[in-house]
Amino acid sequence: SRRITVRDIAAAKERGEKWPMLTAYDAMTASVFDEAGIPVMLVGDSMGNCHLGYESTVPVTMDEITILSAAVVRGTKRALIVGDLPFGSYQEGPVQALRSATRLVKEAGVGAVKLEGGERSAHQIELLVQSGIPVMAHVGLTPQSVNAYGGYPVQGRGEEAAQQLLRDAKAVQDAGAFAVVLETVPAEVAAEVTRSLHIPTVGIGAGPDCDAQVLVWTDMAGLTAGRVPRFVKQYAQLRQTLGDAARAFAEDVVQGAYPTAEHSFH
Ligand code: KIV
Ligand code: NA
Repeated sequence: SRRITVRDIAAAKERGEKWPMLTAYDAMTASVFDEAGIPVMLVGDSMGNCHLGYESTVPVTMDEITILSAAVVRGTKRALIVGDLPFGSYQEGPVQALRSATRLVKEAGVGAVKLEGGERSAHQIELLVQSGIPVMAHVGLTPQSVNAYGGYPVQGRGEEAAQQLLRDAKAVQDAGAFAVVLETVPAEVAAEVTRSLHIPTVGIGAGPDCDAQVLVWTDMAGLTAGRVPRFVKQYAQLRQTLGDAARAFAEDVVQGAYPTAEHSFH
């Protein structure tokens, strides 16, 4: 069976079907989600926090995104794989964005790329789309701007900010984006944006009325250490499960309970 494409995504909005998206950063986890029927996976720059141990997404490089995107593509058969353009790989302008996106498509084999910004990124989106690279946009809270925000505040609060968010969403749609992530915005504003667009909105901390929902997989599965944002629902407790397994293995080794004859060659 073939991979899901941006045409399938457009058809889902026409049919009023909601769909899930998860992040993925390695082939094995991606294969689990592929078998579970997750139609779209994002190799997010959230890998900076989740897998590379950075404090934010800002340090993530094109090399890192390319290597992990290639792994996720190799681990999947059906999902549409979206590669995130990291900070500094598209801000210089459309030509730089095209160079970065082309690398992800050619070297990693992603079916689409994502970049942050509404009106400010419209020219980049236009050139990528004209060049045959599907683009998922990302407005509202854009974590690559953490140093400008001084944190991760909710966006689109108040009439003026809500109108700006709507302008940003329309700008990326007009530029040709096939979908747009709405991150950490009031549910009412996300609902209005969703009604106003013909491309699907992908919510994260954006309430129930978006066309799709995305979560960082380590948050969704309870692997992330410490507090998770209030919009996260944990569908498993992998941190506990994995820790228990490691402790049990350690205990067995220390006690001489593993390995036994059945695990040995004779
Ligand atoms: O990098 C990421 O995981 C993302 C999603 C949260 C949308 O950009
Ligand atoms: Na991201």
